[in-house]
Amino acid sequence: MNAPIGVIDSGVGGLTVVRELRKYLPNEPIIYIGDDARCPYGPRPAEEVLAFTLDMVNSLAQMGIKMLVIACNTATAIALDEVRKQFDFPVIGVIQPGARAAVNASQTGEIAVLGTMGTVNSKAYDQAIYQLKPEATVYSLACPEFVPIVENGDYRTKQAREIVDRTLQPLHSHSFDSVILGCTHYPLLQEHIEAHFSNSKNIISSAVETVIDVERILNEQQILSAAPAEPLFYTTGSIEKFQSIVEDWLTLPQPDVRMLTF
Ligand code: DGL
Repeated sequence: MNAPIGVIDSGVGGLTVVRELRKYLPNEPIIYIGDDARCPYGPRPAEEVLAFTLDMVNSLAQMGIKMLVIACNTATAIALDEVRKQFDFPVIGVIQPGARAAVNASQTGEIAVLGTMGTVNSKAYDQAIYQLKPEATVYSLACPEFVPIVENGDYRTKQAREIVDRTLQPLHSHSFDSVILGCTHYPLLQEHIEAHFSNSKNIISSAVETVIDVERILNEQQILSAAPAEPLFYTTGSIEKFQSIVEDWLTLPQPDVRMLTF
């Protein structure tokens, strides 16, 4: 079935999932919406995150997607159940796959979760991890400065490194062997995060695990696509900024980025 997979995020963070989708499922057409104009979602009240998420899903539903990936932890934590209730196509989020990957990787069962305020407050990761491994210990840390620096395209700068070092400092009073990047924007800061911990922790991004779930669903429902296609991106923010991050992160020259307004 050659209909596209819909992917949504509050901004460019979901591109970390798109990168893995393109690697593992290169025949799958993708339509992406990044709500960059209203990013960040992390500090917003839950009702607002739900309403904004539904705006994106309604647009994709009209475009005729065959399944949806909520490639945003904040939106997954707050809106996954409601989106599943309202739409007929299969919907997956990024929290369950991330929790599963961390539980599999951790030797000690002590896991740190980095996320937005919304994700940390929802305790969605804590619940998902304890369900898989009741004796686990979870330390969560909100990192509100990370998303703006990624949205601005400044993730490779010295300033990004300094913000990462300062933000992660409080974690040093805990012992853990694995760190979940519980926000899809954070893999763009992964080299700084790895360096901060002197490469001594398992750094878990849910992107690869999420793609495993996507593939399983496409197989189960027999809706795999056979025709390779270039992804189509919509942003509610700056087309130029979005385009340059797509070119850099996906190594995709001249990506098709269009404007969307709600
Ligand atoms: N990328 C989003 C996430 O995974 C959130 C960024 C934000 O809008 O605060 O949580």
